[in-house]
Parts: sequence; structure tokens; C-alpha cells
Amino acid sequence: MTDAPYFDPAILRPALQAVEPYVPGRPLEDIRRELGDVEVVKLASNEGPLPPFPAAIDAIAAAARDQNLYPDPGAWALRDALADLHGIDPAAIAVGNGVDSLIKILCMALLDPGDELAMCWPSFISHRQGTMMQGATWVPASLRADGAYDLDALLAAVTPATKMAVVVSPNNPTGGMVDPGDLAAFFDALPGHVLPVLDEAYFEYLPAGAHDGVAMLRDGRPMVVMRTFSKAYGLAGMRVGWMAGPPDLISALTPVRNAFDVNALAQAAAVASLADAAEHLPPRMAMARTERARMDAGLRALGLKPLPSEANFLFMEVGVDRARALDAALTARGVIVRPAGAFGAPGALRITVGTPDQTDRLLAAMAESLMEVA
Ligand SMILES: Cc1ncc(COP(=O)(O)O)c(C=O)c1O
Repeated sequence: MTDAPYFDPAILRPALQAVEPYVPGRPLEDIRRELGDVEVVKLASNEGPLPPFPAAIDAIAAAARDQNLYPDPGAWALRDALADLHGIDPAAIAVGNGVDSLIKILCMALLDPGDELAMCWPSFISHRQGTMMQGATWVPASLRADGAYDLDALLAAVTPATKMAVVVSPNNPTGGMVDPGDLAAFFDALPGHVLPVLDEAYFEYLPAGAHDGVAMLRDGRPMVVMRTFSKAYGLAGMRVGWMAGPPDLISALTPVRNAFDVNALAQAAAVASLADAAEHLPPRMAMARTERARMDAGLRALGLKPLPSEANFLFMEVGVDRARALDAALTARGVIVRPAGAFGAPGALRITVGTPDQTDRLLAAMAESLMEVA
């Protein structure tokens, strides 16, 4: 053994030094180990609170025996099912190991040093990370006071070097959504060298009449829309998301993708979920809306001020010190929430909406924690 360092950090790409790692919500097991017998409620990562749809669980079990084989690299069954459902060309669809993976793939394919990606901030960190990893320039614009993307501010952030303009709606971590007419006008106003990207990870939670990126794409807009099975479909553990865009762009991404990015169980589960969605999605979305309203009212009664949310979480500014103290006090009571510092909002908490029991647990723990923290 010598005292020489195991490796010289200077061999890392300089661009990586600027990338803050994604810090996920604390895992249940972690807190369980710390607290012992308390039943822990995780409201930190915006997952759906219920198990996968019954057909998805059956499909995972049925596919288990074929796991000696690599998955279908083209994910054809899933892309065909998505294409049928949405009336688009399967060649316009790419699936990935969560939308997270697709965001990085798009950044790898489009961004070089000197290129820019514009988005509003606070928002979903992967778009920023993907940009920085390429050594490209991340250009933030402000949100509106209600937590939705400020599309005028975003347009003003676009320069001749902008390659992508990302709109996250509903926005994570704030929950605000953009108006469909404003979104169309924004896309119309973008110069031709900018690819519009609409991150609709929480699409299923949107009210009737909200924007629909797939419909915009069907109408012929040259844009990219991203959706996931991680939230409404209860498949976060499987890691499967998809994006749709112009077929030429989708096929140009092939060299950047891992050949077997989406595992076979995830593909089977997603296909089965789509078949089960008509029955199981509406009641789950109704529960999410009911519990969101109940959590919102309960938090307001405790003096907090959540922003209006069209997703499965609520966001509230509480102050930097209080955010830290409330997070610790809630965790000590077995309720894991998400301080929003990683998303650019260090004085805020983001709380996922779950089941009625979980809402009760959160509100009771919050009442006690607020008294403790004062
Ligand atoms: C706005 C947004 N986009 C993308 C993702 C990534 O989703 P996935 O689980 O499909 O990687 C998330 C997950 O929290 C999100 O909030």
C-alpha cells in the first residue's frame, strides 16, 4: 500500500464538478431503522400511495420466469400500446428507465458546451443536471407567484444559443400549471432553433381542460412531451417513463440510449397498466384530489400557506430554519416530507398527497411539530 490517492480527481470531466447530485427523499427503511416500532409514512417523493394496478402485479409475476432473457430493446409492446392509446406513431415514442433517464438522454443528444437550456426555477432538477453534465449552460427564469412557470420570463431567457426550452407543468416542487392557451402561444413564439420540451410527469392529475402535450404533438407541433408511470400508475419502483416527439428526433436518440434501458418486468407492468387504466386510474385521481383538498385545508388551519397545486403534492414556504426544524420534527414522528432545497427552494417543504390515513398522520404530526418548532 502507498499513500497515493486511489484515483486522481483531476481525471474527472470539469463539467461534473458543477453538478449537484440528486438527493432523493429519505427511504422508508432508513427511518424505520432509526425510529424502531413507529409506522413510517413516506410523503417525500410524489409516488402514488397505492400498489400497482392488479393487472400490472399479475404481469410482473407472469414475466418473472422469462428473466433469463434480455428485454425487448425496442419495447415494442409498450410503444405500440402507447401509440394506440394516444393515436400517434410508435416511431414518435421512446421509453426509458424513468423520465429521469430520458431527460439525460435528450441532454446528451442535444447539448454541447456553449449551448443553453432554459427553464424556470425552482423546478425539477434533472433538466438542470443533464445540462450541467454536458458542460452546457443552464439558464433559469423565475416562476410566477402561484408556482406555475412564468412563460414570459422563460421566453425572455431564450437566446441564440438556446437549444431547449423546458416547461414543467404541473411544476415540481410547486404544483402550479400553465394555461393551455398560454402554453401554445409560448411554443408559437419560440424561435425555430429551440426545441420545446413539456415535462408532464403529473399529467394524469390535471383537471379537465388542462394542457395535453400529446394532443399538441398530434396536432403537428414539433415538440417533445414526457410522461411517467411512476406517479399515477403506482410503478415508481419499476422505473419506466416515455417521451414522444418528431420521429426523426426520436430515432436520432438511439445511439445515446442504453440498449436495454427498460427492464422486461417494467415493460410488462406498463403494458398491463395501460389496459387496466380505464378502471383504476379515475378513482385514484379522485382520491388524490380529495386528499389534496383535505391536506390543504388542514395545513391552512394550522397557519401554513400551501400554493395552489394541480399535482399530487403541496408546497409551502416556511423559512429556511423552520423548514429544517419541521422536517426533523416530522421525521421524528414517522412522517417523511421533502425539504425543497434541492429544487431551488431552501425555505420550503414539499409534501406528497397520499391516502386518507396518511393525510391524517401528516396533519396530526404537523400540528405537534409546529408547536415544538414554534
Ligand atoms: C417533473 C418531473 N419530471 C420527471 C420526473 C422523473 O420521473 P421518473 O420517475 O419517470 O424518472 C419527476 C419525478 O419526480 C418529476 O417530478
